[in-house]
Amino acid sequence: MKVLVTYFSQSGNTEKIAKAICEEAARANEADLKKLEDITPDEVAGYDVIFIGSPLHSGSLAAPVKEYLGVIKESSGQKMAGFITHFAPAYPNQDMDGFAEPIKVACKEKGIEYKGCFDCQGFLIESMHSMVRKKLNLTDEQWAGMVKQMTGYPNEEDEGKAKVFAKEVLD
Ligand SMILES: Cc1cc2nc3c(=O)[nH]c(=O)nc-3n(C[C@H](O)[C@H](O)[C@H](O)COP(=O)(O)O)c2cc1C
Repeated sequence: MKVLVTYFSQSGNTEKIAKAICEEAARANEADLKKLEDITPDEVAGYDVIFIGSPLHSGSLAAPVKEYLGVIKESSGQKMAGFITHFAPAYPNQDMDGFAEPIKVACKEKGIEYKGCFDCQGFLIESMHSMVRKKLNLTDEQWAGMVKQMTGYPNEEDEGKAKVFAKEVLD
């Protein structure tokens, strides 16, 4: 099978998961890793399975990912799965389902089979810390705890879980 792993990533977290998924996919398939901006919708149409990755931005997929989903070509027989990173430790399943909705909708509209969505925690880029801290109205101590909690993510365990997810999608 031809597998595409494409993603948008500003600070490298989603890219880390993309690489893990691609590594797993390449074990038994022809697999390509591409930034979203480096692949055209026409090129995407040539793949059997597409993994599309995004950071969570304000409780939603990043804008470039949502835009891209809108221009993906109709394709019967294709499969698509998502992967999302977010700084919050975890979200309830119902919330994650909502975040993945634009992927599901695109699949439905384009005749692509939706194969689920993986998610894990990712460290929040430093430049956003004071803004997010203010927005969440946290004390120094609370914020320090939050930073400690997200430091080092995504980690090896997350990469391993992403590989298991990829294997399930591809099996
Ligand atoms: C503009 C912006 C908005 C964000 N909004 C959220 C959010 O609503 N919930 C959350 O858990 N993380 C949020 N984050 C954190 C990112 O989703 C997280 O750090 C992600 O792992 C970044 O991935 P990247 O390194 O691939 O860009 C936000 C980050 C940015 C830059």
